[in-house]
Amino acid sequence: MALRTIDALQLGGKRVFIRVDFNVPLDDAGHVTDDARIRAALPTIRFAVAARARVILASHLGRPKGRPDDRQKLTLEPAAARLSELLGQDVTLADDCVGDGVRKLVRDLQEGQVLLLENLRFHPEEERNDDAFCRELAALCDVWVNDAFGTAHRAHASTAGMARHVKERAAGFLVKKEVEYLGKALGAPARPFVALVGGAKVSDKIKVLENLIARADAICVGGAMAYTFLEAQGVPVGASLVERDQLDLARTILERARGRKVDLLLPVDHVCGAEPKATARREVVAERAIPAGLMGLDIGPRTLDVFRQRILAARTVFWNGPMGLFEQAPWAEGTLGVARAMAESSAVTVVGGGDSAAAVEAAGLVDRMTHVSTGGGASLEFIEGRELPGIKACEG
Ligand code: 3PG
Repeated sequence: MALRTIDALQLGGKRVFIRVDFNVPLDDAGHVTDDARIRAALPTIRFAVAARARVILASHLGRPKGRPDDRQKLTLEPAAARLSELLGQDVTLADDCVGDGVRKLVRDLQEGQVLLLENLRFHPEEERNDDAFCRELAALCDVWVNDAFGTAHRAHASTAGMARHVKERAAGFLVKKEVEYLGKALGAPARPFVALVGGAKVSDKIKVLENLIARADAICVGGAMAYTFLEAQGVPVGASLVERDQLDLARTILERARGRKVDLLLPVDHVCGAEPKATARREVVAERAIPAGLMGLDIGPRTLDVFRQRILAARTVFWNGPMGLFEQAPWAEGTLGVARAMAESSAVTVVGGGDSAAAVEAAGLVDRMTHVSTGGGASLEFIEGRELPGIKACEG
């Protein structure tokens, strides 16, 4: 079913509740260190402002657990300040998300003005999807819009539950864009379709791999999960991280790929160290087998070249998960190399959020990709082919 988007609704004068994902990283001084998610929500917010809606924004930040300093550490104040700069207008921050004070602020809200509610997760009812809480949030508005793709996999009060109690519902432009790009990459990709999958564990990516095997022409596997696959093939991997309880599954995945004539490419060389630390000596092992005492911490230069050639020959490239321990400089080359090859390629390039999105951001290559998802867990679940409650709630 086609997703109804905010531009299909009459918003003038109405109280429009937009669930955004302002779950952004903060430094110790409380400054927003990456405002990508705030910027990504701007088209929807600007549209509602221009349509003279009375705009109510709401988000969670972090995972408050009722600790005494949560309210101070996890306030949305820094996000409100950054949003106000980006929008070029005042953004009022409420001191809560429900209650008399909030109701008064909403009553006083003028057309075109923006109010940001305080962190929804200061109320445990948000994550419990508590119906009374859903009704309280719903009573604040005439229209519910979900533009929080990053949180679309959560069936919480603001992301799904409250929609039941609001007559007019729609997706925001970010949710629409995410669903379109991630959906197109998986549903009707221009071929060859090359997927790159990395990260530490096969067990985290089983569904993703299964879904991709049904669709991709080639899958390049990097990250620590590659060592479980190599071990499953009987290749010595030294002291590398291996999920012993996933070896049978890795064999099944390899067989399934063969059966479907999908090239599942594993590393042919490695960058290794004695331990997963930035201070460990960096050694390139020029073959598939890793000697005892060393652990693979990144794909090697030959592997990067193989993956790069596949990327450059593709018409659709989808990437999820780093190729190595990219947070530490000695092991970042494979991950950055994949990001650079995608930036060079003329294919439709889609980055599936989380760590890979962080790597693209760190490499300064966001603008060179067709789409970088703002969802970590959400994009993963989307790629696994699961229905996301936050998207389902926009329908009907
Ligand atoms: C994210 O950062 O992935 C989303 O904002 C969801 O956050 P959560 O994992 O704490 O629910």
